[in-house]
Amino acid sequence: MVRLIVTGLIIRVSSPLEAASWSATSQRRVRQLWISSSGRVSGNLANRRRDRAVGVMQKPFTREEFTKGKSTVFSTGRWSNADLSQFQKEQTTWVVKDFSPCSPMIRRTWGRFMVKRELRALLILKGIEGIPAEPFLLDVNALCYRFQPGTTLMDTPSEKINDNFFFEFEAAVQKMHQRGMVHLDIRNQRNVLVTDQGKPVILDFQSSLRLEKTPRFLHEIMKETDFSGVYKNWYKKKPETIDDDRRARLEALNRKRSFWFIRGYPLGTRTDRRS
Ligand SMILES: Nc1ncnc2c1ncn2[C@@H]1O[C@H](COP(=O)(O)OP(=O)(O)OP(=O)(O)O)[C@@H](O)[C@H]1O
Ligand SMILES: [Mg+2]
Repeated sequence: MVRLIVTGLIIRVSSPLEAASWSATSQRRVRQLWISSSGRVSGNLANRRRDRAVGVMQKPFTREEFTKGKSTVFSTGRWSNADLSQFQKEQTTWVVKDFSPCSPMIRRTWGRFMVKRELRALLILKGIEGIPAEPFLLDVNALCYRFQPGTTLMDTPSEKINDNFFFEFEAAVQKMHQRGMVHLDIRNQRNVLVTDQGKPVILDFQSSLRLEKTPRFLHEIMKETDFSGVYKNWYKKKPETIDDDRRARLEALNRKRSFWFIRGYPLGTRTDRRS
């Protein structure tokens, strides 16, 4: 949490400078997706016309359907984390990342902020293979996206990971950077899924940042932090397939990583999950 507050401060400090550089087309694209994904219908006439023009999407399901329907919690959050549930609607399985079970103070502040923040990241990255698909807001407390059957990198033994996996993982990270986003928590093996088809999916964009919202001098180190997550896991799981160049890059990155706030959760800030 402390790390996210610090990264939040970086965003606030740099945002006036960055606003100018965010391309108008990208902004419009994300804005349109935002409107349709949040299922928001605007109050005034001009906004209603604009919403009609971009086609406000019907949410695949509502909070009421989620509450009354059959769902299974598969990840229980810590005091400031969401619960994640699997919810089946017709032929489609969804993840519901929900801050509702958190204390009111967390839910109304941190939770809402995180839900919007992760939605925005997923919208920017929409369409990239290896990124959770079809994100939308259930309500202010919960974000939904498509469930992917698989196991996290942590729970997947090396022999179940095919030789292409880490090349595809690296390619997904490259595409993410091309869209102007850094993840910053890829070293955490719980944030990477190995699907039943053997493909990588990058999860958990809560600590991700838009590059243009951060000072330029940090861009390279942040991108390299993501790559170090790929290579660290590659080296751990499939050392026989990582080449000398990538291994040397990992070693160089490990020497350079001196900013505590982009190393994943700082020591001691991980707390117990809700029971
Ligand atoms: N789209 C998905 N398909 C399948 N499983 C998923 C998906 N998204 C998340 N999960 C599972 O839920 C777990 C937690 O997801 P996520 O990291 O997004 O939440 P979190 O609140 O940050 O939890 P944590 O603090 O444990 O990282 C993942 O490690 C993974 O096992
Ligand atoms: Mg996570």
